[in-house]
Amino acid sequence: MKKMGIVLLLALVFLSGCSRGETSKPTVEPTEPAVVEPVEPEPEPEPSPVMVMDESPVVFQIGDEAEEILPVQQALYLMNYDVDETSIYDEKTEAAVLAFKLTQEDLIPNGECTEWTQERILSEAERRSINEPDSLLVLANKTYYLAADYVPEDLVQPDVFNYYEDKRELRAPAAEALEILFTAAEEEGYKLVFRSGFRSYDIQKIIFERKVKERGFEAANQVSAKPGQSEHQTGLAADITSWSVKNALDEAFGETPEGIWVAENAHLFGFIIRYQIDTVNITKYQYEPWHLRYVGIEDATRIYEAGVTLEEYLGEI
Ligand code: DAL
Ligand code: ZN
Repeated sequence: MKKMGIVLLLALVFLSGCSRGETSKPTVEPTEPAVVEPVEPEPEPEPSPVMVMDESPVVFQIGDEAEEILPVQQALYLMNYDVDETSIYDEKTEAAVLAFKLTQEDLIPNGECTEWTQERILSEAERRSINEPDSLLVLANKTYYLAADYVPEDLVQPDVFNYYEDKRELRAPAAEALEILFTAAEEEGYKLVFRSGFRSYDIQKIIFERKVKERGFEAANQVSAKPGQSEHQTGLAADITSWSVKNALDEAFGETPEGIWVAENAHLFGFIIRYQIDTVNITKYQYEPWHLRYVGIEDATRIYEAGVTLEEYLGEI
C-alpha cells in the first residue's frame, strides 16, 4: 500500500512537470522584429576596356609616293613634327609618323602608316584647327592653328609711325586701339614705332623657313611661328619698338623707358604682352616684349591683373 502511494506521487510529479513545461511562458519576452533596410546590390564592376591594337592595313611605307601622303605630311607639320611636304613617304615622314604613333596607346610604335594611323593624324589635325578665327580671343599657338587661306576681312592701316614704307595692317579694332596707345605714349614722352602687323600664311612661311635655314628647326620655332600658328595671321598682333633700340625687335626693348611704359599700360588700350619673360614653358616662345596682342580692354585688364598668359586665361594649358 505504501509502494502504491509512492508510485502515484511520482506519477503526479511527472505529469505536473510535463504540463508546466508545455504551457509556461518563455522567460525572455520576444523583441520586435528588427527592421531590415533593403541593401542595394553591389554594382557589378565595369569590365576594364580591352585595348584593341591597330591591325589595320599599311597604307604607306618608306619610299612610297602618292598624293594622299601630302595631307598627312601637312597635318604632321602643323602638329609640330619636322616633315617636308613632298608627297613622298621619306625618312623624315617615317620618323614623324613614328613619333606621332608613340603618343597613341593603340597604335603600334613603328614607322608604317596604317589606315588607323592616317585617320588619327588627320582627325587630330582637324581637332586642332581654329574654327572661330575672327574672335578677339582667338588662340593661335603651337597647338591650335589657322587655315592657310584665313585672312581677316577688316584689315586697315593704323595711322601711327610706321617702320616700313608699305604700312602694315591690323584688324580695325586693334588698329584703332594702337593709334590711341601711340598717342597716349607720345603725350607722356614715349615715341613708339610700328613694325609688323598682319602677316598672311604664305608670308609667315617665308619668314619661318628663312629662320629654319639660319638656325635649324628647333631654334627657329622658339622665336618664329610656323605658318598657321602665328598670331600675326589673326591681324590682332602688333610688333612695336622704339628709337632707343634702333627700332630693333629685341629683348632690350623691354628695358627701355618705352618698353617699360608699354608693359605697364598696354592693357589700358586692350593689348597684352603675349610672350613674357617667365612664361616660355607655357607659350613655347621666347620673351618678346615687342609683340602686343589685342584682346580688348576688359580681357586685357583681367589678364594683366591676374598676371597670366592667354593660354591660362582661356584654360588651354
Ligand atoms: N614671333 C612670333 C612668335 C610669331 O612669329 O608669330
Ligand atoms: Zn610679333
